[in-house]
Amino acid sequence: MTAPMTYERTTSATRTIPRVRTRPVRLPFDDEGIPKHWLAGNATATAVSNGVNLLFPYGERFFVRSVKHYLPMLEARVDESPEGQRRAELLQQIKGFFGQEGRHAREHERFFDILRGQGYELDGFLARFEGAFGRLERITPPVLHLAATAAGEHFTALMAGNAFRDLPMFDHAHPLMRDLMLWHAAEEIEHKAVAFDVLTEAVPSPVLRYLVRVSGMAVAGAFLLYWWTQGTKTLLAQDGVDRRRALEEGERFQALRRALGLSDRRIVRDVFLRGIASYLRPSFHPWEVEDADVAATFLADFEARRLA
Ligand SMILES: [Fe+2]
Ligand SMILES: [Fe+2]
Repeated sequence: MTAPMTYERTTSATRTIPRVRTRPVRLPFDDEGIPKHWLAGNATATAVSNGVNLLFPYGERFFVRSVKHYLPMLEARVDESPEGQRRAELLQQIKGFFGQEGRHAREHERFFDILRGQGYELDGFLARFEGAFGRLERITPPVLHLAATAAGEHFTALMAGNAFRDLPMFDHAHPLMRDLMLWHAAEEIEHKAVAFDVLTEAVPSPVLRYLVRVSGMAVAGAFLLYWWTQGTKTLLAQDGVDRRRALEEGERFQALRRALGLSDRRIVRDVFLRGIASYLRPSFHPWEVEDADVAATFLADFEARRLA
């Protein structure tokens, strides 16, 4: 018998899972001048945000490849039973997930061209990052790719949750960047359980699955932390911001956050430590954090403004 699908709604009468939907988003990057320090006029905050942006397109295409590998397995297990029907539903969610990640990757790559126009040289960094990523992918098995994807999605969902708690901060961002970040964040919330649920199907034994899940977290966490730091450092160096000024700018950003009634942002604590701690609980499921409503609220407004 396979383990129960963890996104089943029967466990909580109040839990509703959003349908993962692909939206035909194409942001008007060509029409709007985005300033170099688009986040609060702050060099450090912008570099940290741009730094993780550099990882998205390649990372998201890896996520899609990792899940795609398991489509035949899932399709073969669709039947008339309740479990078979949940798999059919998961396949629908996966379709939306592929569409969403494909569009995120494309829009972030279009933003790369804005960065290039601002004078940044990205290709050296991207070649190093993608080279390391590709080598790791070649020497590891598909189930670890899937587990790393589930963990990567946990981190992006956590960052997305933080973004929506930080909404006042986005009043200090360029409006187009605000939309890019929050659209991406909202869809990350919408599809946050897809890879996790595929992993549940792929590894039916709970004990083995937990081991695989933790291994995926170890790889994804270390890789994300290392390359996010490298990307941020690369951009700051090209911006001519030395360590002392980067720290000063960072403090200025925290002061602005406090003035807006937000707590200081410590990424290692708020994303990595909290993310790992919650993920290590054997009973963890992405939808134990019910933040579908903030995502839906933003997306309704976004669709009316950008997709009408
Ligand atoms: Fe994404
Ligand atoms: Fe995602």
